[in-house]
Amino acid sequence: MTSLDASAIPQTALTFPAGFRWGAATAAYQIEGAAALHGRTPSIWDTFSHTPGKVLGGDTGDTAADHYHRMPEDVALLERLGVSDYRFSVAWPRVQPTGRGPAVQRGLDFYRRLVDTLLAAGIRPVATLYHWDLPQELEDLGGWPRRETAERFAEYAGLVAGALGDRVAGWTTFNEPWCAAFLGYASGVHAPGRTEPESALRAAHHFNLAHGLGAAALRAVLPRSAEVSLTLNLHVVRPLTPGAADLDAVRRIDAVGNRIFLDPVFHGRLPEDLVRDTAGVTDWSFVRDGDLAAAAEPVDWLGINYYSPMVVAAGGPGDLDPSAGPSPWVGAEEHVRLVPAPGPRTAMDWPVDAGGLHELLMRLHGELPGVPMLITENGAAYVDHADPAGEVHDPERIGYLHGHLAAVHRAIADGADVRGYFVWSLLDNFEWAYGYSKRFGLVHVDFATQRRTPKDSARWYADVIARGGLPA
Ligand code: FCB
Repeated sequence: MTSLDASAIPQTALTFPAGFRWGAATAAYQIEGAAALHGRTPSIWDTFSHTPGKVLGGDTGDTAADHYHRMPEDVALLERLGVSDYRFSVAWPRVQPTGRGPAVQRGLDFYRRLVDTLLAAGIRPVATLYHWDLPQELEDLGGWPRRETAERFAEYAGLVAGALGDRVAGWTTFNEPWCAAFLGYASGVHAPGRTEPESALRAAHHFNLAHGLGAAALRAVLPRSAEVSLTLNLHVVRPLTPGAADLDAVRRIDAVGNRIFLDPVFHGRLPEDLVRDTAGVTDWSFVRDGDLAAAAEPVDWLGINYYSPMVVAAGGPGDLDPSAGPSPWVGAEEHVRLVPAPGPRTAMDWPVDAGGLHELLMRLHGELPGVPMLITENGAAYVDHADPAGEVHDPERIGYLHGHLAAVHRAIADGADVRGYFVWSLLDNFEWAYGYSKRFGLVHVDFATQRRTPKDSARWYADVIARGGLPA
């Protein structure tokens, strides 16, 4: 044993408040595998990934990181990180395969075991009810553009809460409804792969409604101490120039990217400019009396997923690259040009800009007083390799996480009520349309052998958690 040289241990430069929640996040379809086991039926992502040409390399989530069978090993990895919280999602088609009727016990048992293993390790479970895996049967009936799907979701929410509510204190209704609505139903790059602009707007509205109905269904079953939340991927939109035309492009993206969810959920209203911008697509008559009030069921905190900002300028029809396929920016696509943001990029080609996270947190701090925030996802994909000694050195990921945590710290110092931070992701996993080609994990997964190897970033994060802050 070499003796410890105290002077070699870096000082803690930025300390987070006591009680700050340190976590890691995953999602069911991205890690579980066991796609056809114990009564699970296909979700829209099973169908989509099995459709040729939809996912890079023809990858599917059939096996993924085999977490369904390796759950205890994965919880042990979380324990080694020292996290206080773990954010996972429940696969709807595993617990209620047809999207209606009674729950499948074996499906619920898996999550019960997971939660019990977490609690025994002193880790607080934070369960997301919907991370994009709609039972295929509900899509066949019309999917999220159909109102009844929102009602089905509320029933499912009550069912899961009834089974796990005695041991799960943290609940999130939806993960990133923007992606689910606009990538799923407008651009079609995500499941179910439809390219119907009006359906995307309907879906967005039904996500808001389902969030409200689901939150109420959770509260009807859960103890008063339980936390109910929603996670949004809010867009940090910057104008190319300060001119009025570019600022109007920002407004349009903000309307259909952010306020389409923020306004119903926090203010019980639809943004007027969004209704105007989308008048050529829909008259919004699918919004019924009482829907917006139902959507505004209060949340205990807002979950924020942040990866990178975007830059926009005024544009005209055709300015978006037609080879890129249909646009997700319904109502804005003919007026906006997306401009590549400057700076270094991750393996997703996403710009690295921690300042965007500070900006977003301060905006929400100003607009939503009294709503605590948790960063429910932040992280980066890089091209990681195990070296001959079996180690994975990922200094860029450490740099990314360090920069973004420093931005969170600055926002807290500036008054924002940020209660916690979850790294995306615990494990390398099925990265949606990119399949297994993009690695976001703190822990490397060799998908041929399912061997887990903590990367340097895992050790770095464990040290951050242990000291409660960032080293100098
Ligand atoms: C988010 C998703 C998450 C993951 C990251 C990289 O949009 O919520 O599942 O794929 O992006």
